[in-house]
Amino acid sequence: MPQQPTDQPYVLGTHGEELERLRFQHELWRPLAEAAWDRAGLTAGERVLDLGAGPGFAALDLARRVGPTGQVLALEHSPAYVAAGRLLAVEAGLTHLELRQHDLLRDPLPHEGFDLAWMRWVAMFLADLEPLLTQLPLALRPGGRLVLHEYVQWDSFGLHPHGAAIHRFGQAVQRSFRQAGGDPDVNRRLPSLLAARGFRIDALEPLPVLGREGSLAAQWMQRFVMVYAHQLQAQGLWSAADQAEALAEIEAAAEDPGSFWMGPTVLELRATRWAP
Ligand SMILES: C[S@@+](CC[C@H](N)C(=O)[O-])C[C@H]1O[C@@H](n2cnc3c(N)ncnc32)[C@H](O)[C@@H]1O
Repeated sequence: MPQQPTDQPYVLGTHGEELERLRFQHELWRPLAEAAWDRAGLTAGERVLDLGAGPGFAALDLARRVGPTGQVLALEHSPAYVAAGRLLAVEAGLTHLELRQHDLLRDPLPHEGFDLAWMRWVAMFLADLEPLLTQLPLALRPGGRLVLHEYVQWDSFGLHPHGAAIHRFGQAVQRSFRQAGGDPDVNRRLPSLLAARGFRIDALEPLPVLGREGSLAAQWMQRFVMVYAHQLQAQGLWSAADQAEALAEIEAAAEDPGSFWMGPTVLELRATRWAP
């Protein structure tokens, strides 16, 4: 288990380039999020909690979906992301979307009987899952649903058939997440941990992503290599020579119509808080 201090800075950072990467990432993943909310039966008028919402890209969609008779509370650690999300909510006229600064490692969740909680790519960064696991059943009403998109198989990340440096990049990324106290494959553990906390596990569905040259998925993964390489280099986990090799592989792949990217595999977890 990770044993890092809980006040370690968030490993991906919250700079402007990362915010834009999150916006782009949401464009790619939005249909999968929407499908998950459909499967969980999310309807107008419901009250939703978005845990680790970032700048609120999914929260905005959730707010549109539940409409003005519903409510979305988006909790996020980074004050910069909270400020960016508040601006987006105002611009979109979504007065029933609130972004609130919140540390999932320390702050109790509001015990307000939410109908549904959504979390995507957040538990993987938490050095301690205990506070979240303890608080979640208290935040949801009996019968309230939980929908998680977290990774289950980071090792599936790669560029094929010629991506030796990209493979090494994926290994370095996982090392950096672990060094910061996270678990890149956290969704291997969450279903069992949630079942032990009184959740009924309704569905576990893998969401593999494959991207050919020019696709949104390929752009998403290329962009991640560009943006996160700086942090990896600062952490001593990646070198300029490694990055040059990775970029050469990306350039070569652009000339090969048979090349493709595979994403780290997300596991969709849908669960329901048991009625007492
Ligand atoms: C990869 S981003 C995902 C953002 C958003 N869920 C999405 O799908 O676009 C991870 C987010 O988790 C937030 N986060 C990390 N640790 C947190 C904590 N202890 N409490 C609250 N948010 C946290 C980060 O600030 C960041 O916004």
